[in-house]
Amino acid sequence: MKLADNKATLSFSNGSPSVEMPVYQGSLGPDVIDIRKLYAQTGKFTYDPGFLSTAACQSAITYIDGDKGELLYRGYPIEELATGCDFLETCHLLLYGELPNAEGKKKFSRLVSMHTMVNEQMQFFLRGFRRDAHPMAIMTGLVGALSAFYHDSTDINNPQHRDISAIRLIAKMPTLVAMAYKYTVGQPYMYPRNDLSYAGNFLHMMFATPCEDYKVSPVLERAVDRIFTLHADHEQNASTSTVRLCGSSGTNPFAAIAAGVACLWGPAHGGANEACLNMLEDIQKMGGVSKVGEFMEKVKDKNSGVKLMGFGHRVYKNYDPRAKLMQETCKEVLAELGLENDPLFKLAMALEKIALEDEYFVSRKLYPNVDFYSGIVQRAIGIPVPLFTAVFALARTVGWIAQLNEMIGDPEYKIGRPRQLFTGSVRREVQPLAKR
Ligand code: SDX
Repeated sequence: MKLADNKATLSFSNGSPSVEMPVYQGSLGPDVIDIRKLYAQTGKFTYDPGFLSTAACQSAITYIDGDKGELLYRGYPIEELATGCDFLETCHLLLYGELPNAEGKKKFSRLVSMHTMVNEQMQFFLRGFRRDAHPMAIMTGLVGALSAFYHDSTDINNPQHRDISAIRLIAKMPTLVAMAYKYTVGQPYMYPRNDLSYAGNFLHMMFATPCEDYKVSPVLERAVDRIFTLHADHEQNASTSTVRLCGSSGTNPFAAIAAGVACLWGPAHGGANEACLNMLEDIQKMGGVSKVGEFMEKVKDKNSGVKLMGFGHRVYKNYDPRAKLMQETCKEVLAELGLENDPLFKLAMALEKIALEDEYFVSRKLYPNVDFYSGIVQRAIGIPVPLFTAVFALARTVGWIAQLNEMIGDPEYKIGRPRQLFTGSVRREVQPLAKR
């Protein structure tokens, strides 16, 4: 970042001395006002719950322009990466800053393949869960448990440890998600296969059984790979901020990523894809497209607490570019599977059309986000609804670990410790029990 040629001056109407603060500019996006010395100079904090106007860090990984609906990974538009590259090339880009050449891609893919197995002991963690446990409950446990096995790569201040833990996490997440799924359906785990692509291997571990050969469908393989790419990173969203804050204490990367998994689970965040599919199924049960108007009235009634899941975004005030690509992937997969008339896809398209013409949504700049169509394509592939957010966590792991490693690699980083506006009781004396 570099010093902008203007400064910010904060003055107070009560005559307190005004303070000057430097303004910094990045390569893209809004400038920032450096308030790090504000408390020391004024004895005051800024107040920004939800971080609507706060840059918590500087980063060179992902840039979002919410007004344009633009998403760049290391400068490359998501539309070009999703169609011209595969997920492992995107992982290489997010981790190291550049797309690999052919030799580099082969080396990186081989490195990831060599780390896809998990310690055999991991399966005993699964046995502790009920068979109907939510996959995200299982994943929160399993990812944290990885730190019990890899003592040789938990020192985040060691660059080699950061590198190997990144590879281990990217490589093992598909294995863990597939194990969580197999456990809930009572089928044997399938070991990873080094002769398959990253996405192909995931499909194999999910849907193959020891009883017969499983053939990976190239269309589904491409669709899964694209779903991973579209979810790989997204600037300082809630779960990435959780990973950064958790990692800032110096904890090991597996524990920090487990915190990200836990945060992503929420329906306002990664859990929205599951909530959106359930919402579509509920509307379908009520009568489908003919009931959309009635449903939208509930959404617009503040007291109903009903939201149009998969719609709206803190940053995008235009169409989420990932939603567009996901909709295209939906069409491709449904056509390939002969499900062009999938009622839920038609219902989702009808909902989108009505919402984009409705003043309530237009005035609030609410558009479909990445979660609106992702559930439909995952369901068509055969991924069960409760597993959708675990698939999101699988894909987002590369973004989390790239952002964590960027933070730890910055010599200026400090432990994150926000302050507060205290509104509780002023000091008072404890009264003896008899007098309370
Ligand atoms: C992800 O941050 C990221 O980048 C996240 C993510 C990533 O890749 O990491 O992009 C992934 O989490 C996508 C978002 C998935 N969540 C959902 O689809 C859940 C439904 N969406 C909403 O909960 C909401 O839109 C949020 C949480 C996504 C954003 O919330 P904000 O920015 O805090 O906005 P807000 O709640 O203040 O909404 C502004 C207005 C409000 O109405 P008013 O009070 O002004 O009258 O819009 C309304 C909201 O009630 N609104 C919605 C709505 N989303 C916002 N009304 C109906 N349905 C919705 N979905």
